[in-house]
Amino acid sequence: MKVLRIFLMGILVTVSGVTSAQTTDAKMKPFIDALMKKMTIDEKIGQLNLPGSGDIVTGQASNSDIGKKIREGKVGGLFNIKTVEKIRAVQKVAVEESRMKIPMLFGMDVIHGYETVFPIPLGLSCTWDMAAIERSARVAATEASADGINWTFSPMVDVSRDPRWGRISEGSGEDVHLGSEIAKAMVRGYQGTDLTKNNTIMSCVKHYALYGAGEAGRDYNTTDMSRVRMFNEYLPPYKAALDAGAGSIMASFNEVDGIPATANKFLMTDVLRKMWGFKGFVVTDYTGINEMIDHGLGDLKTVSQLALNAGIDMDMVGEGFLTTLKQSLQEGKVTQAQIDGACRRILEAKYKLGLFEDPYKYCDAKRASSEIFTDANRKIAREISAQSFVLLKNQGNVLPIKKTGTIALIGPLADAKENMPGTWSVAANFSKATSVLTGLQAAVGTNAKILYAKGSNLDTDSAFEERGTMFGKTLNRDRRPAQQILDEALAIANQSDVIVAALGESAEMTGESSSRTDIEIPQAQQDLLMALLKTGKPVVLVLFTGRPLALKWEQENVPAILNVWFGGSEAGSAIADVIFGDVNPSGKLSTTFPQNIGQVPIFYNHKNTGRPLPDGKWFQKFRSNYLDVSNDPLYPFGFGLSYTNFTYSPVELSKSSFKPGETITASVTVTNSGAVTGKEVVQLYLRDLVGTNTRPVKELKGFQKIELKAGESRKVSFRISVNDLKFYNADLKYAAEPGDFKVFIGGNSRDCREGDFKLL
Ligand code: BGC
Repeated sequence: MKVLRIFLMGILVTVSGVTSAQTTDAKMKPFIDALMKKMTIDEKIGQLNLPGSGDIVTGQASNSDIGKKIREGKVGGLFNIKTVEKIRAVQKVAVEESRMKIPMLFGMDVIHGYETVFPIPLGLSCTWDMAAIERSARVAATEASADGINWTFSPMVDVSRDPRWGRISEGSGEDVHLGSEIAKAMVRGYQGTDLTKNNTIMSCVKHYALYGAGEAGRDYNTTDMSRVRMFNEYLPPYKAALDAGAGSIMASFNEVDGIPATANKFLMTDVLRKMWGFKGFVVTDYTGINEMIDHGLGDLKTVSQLALNAGIDMDMVGEGFLTTLKQSLQEGKVTQAQIDGACRRILEAKYKLGLFEDPYKYCDAKRASSEIFTDANRKIAREISAQSFVLLKNQGNVLPIKKTGTIALIGPLADAKENMPGTWSVAANFSKATSVLTGLQAAVGTNAKILYAKGSNLDTDSAFEERGTMFGKTLNRDRRPAQQILDEALAIANQSDVIVAALGESAEMTGESSSRTDIEIPQAQQDLLMALLKTGKPVVLVLFTGRPLALKWEQENVPAILNVWFGGSEAGSAIADVIFGDVNPSGKLSTTFPQNIGQVPIFYNHKNTGRPLPDGKWFQKFRSNYLDVSNDPLYPFGFGLSYTNFTYSPVELSKSSFKPGETITASVTVTNSGAVTGKEVVQLYLRDLVGTNTRPVKELKGFQKIELKAGESRKVSFRISVNDLKFYNADLKYAAEPGDFKVFIGGNSRDCREGDFKLL
């Protein structure tokens, strides 16, 4: 540390005359100039290398001999290494034993919390609560930074409309506006207002670009879409994260326009640098460069050249840059300026984090022992978790249930604490997560009897169960005959006043490399559910899932369905809070739920087509529809019930037309017409009725989450400006077109009050 200070101080004194490396842009350039002057080409290329630590393996390979490489100046950062002690030891090698003494970045997939885990991102997005989402990222950054991490591979902002894709669980759903707001909130949460503080970390927005639109929902698959759709419906969340200050961005695995994102100059240079003016650095995804060999673009040397030429700065895991760039430079296939530019951007990130001032600023063992998995953080996680649940059905007000009598808790997810954090909880404290069983028991104490039985395995096919429970998050498969497991459950079900069925997917049935072609609840659990319903007892389905599921049968037959996603460390307690009515559910879907898999992709902001259905019909020959199922979703985007009801007045508009430069206000009065306090997400949608391009039938443009007491009313207003009416046309010109618009306000994308206005 001392050695590093003296060494770097030397640079500062000679170059800029200042005596300490303060993190201002004006001082950064001369500092980095001086540093780079002393670096060899090997050391510069070394900065572009990002190996995984082997501590937590998130891809196919892990690296060894890291220490030696760090000493030789061949490593710019390391990722997925856990604990402050280990990170301090590695940083010490970099800043004391390498020639240039350059501190390292320590990255991690801190996706929805660190040890205190929040709901999976898809669940978080259903809170529609930007302050809560920002808070979750703030807690995550505080805990991660207390444990030595200074860089997170989050937020994941890939818009996705395909529930087959396992990684839909990691994003914010299907909508570009909601996704952009969440992207900003997450970046604010991680980076705060001052990146040099020891409790803020650099964010890396991913996966740029269009990773959520892979063909057939298969992971890593080809993406192909028009530029118009790309710019209107998929790119804005990446830009929103960068505008909010995200210091880095990750290239996606997929191709775009026939060129993998990792070699895609259009994405990495034309859009990212020239159109958006991004100044931070670009990292590949895990072996993204090497995978271009299989994409069919050439050998490792060639694909490494392609990546650097396109605008990639840092190579995650594959060491294509490390092993080939020097030779490519000698052959004139890449330039010194390109290597210098990439190296500079990585050094700048380190500078902005304040690592040159104090490489150990994130290595405070005292913080690590007092700021991680604290009671306060767990309390925040519990509150946010409850807010992410979406009540899909509640016939006859089965929910909330009373904390008295006998409750039968049944299902493979009922006593499965290690599944509660959900996918991508690489730092989670699994053993301390709360299961539904512990949550319910703690909530009722001695007032009610909770009887528990598993009822069935995740599915009859044990190989499927094993594939869906990777990373050690087992469901402890019960090897007894299925009938015996079921009979045990039916015995307790028959003694109960109400059955809580904890069913659905296991944690790793979504996430990376977890696509499915069948998006129903696995058959063994459907059978269990049918048997439970036959007892005639009221059944509450507590549904675990990381994707929209096809739940037509369940919607028709189960009285109450509470979708709880994967709620994080405190899931079990939060589930108890909601099912006993201590918290009124307020989550709203950020993805459309289809009636069946054949409707996929189904999303609310589709086009009208030239042959839309006439009002009130679900089928008509020679119209755009199916013979066997209506075009309607099972649950529309924005949908979610409450233990109370909200009614909406007609839409009031401040005027009937407006000019660019002016605004128009659309208002409704929302009334809580039920018996308990509740939160409602009031949603504003617009439709551009006539244009030079076809426009979606509805587009979310605003939302406000409000809380109303029973009987209380509130006027909710949205100010609409010309910016809300702009779109990219076929020439990729971003502008609003004068004409007629419709405004819709409601509690979901289907059930809205409407109004009309004109842009002059
Ligand atoms: C994933 C990324 C992740 C990276 C590092 C990749 O397989 O696609 O989202 O950040 O691994 O763990």
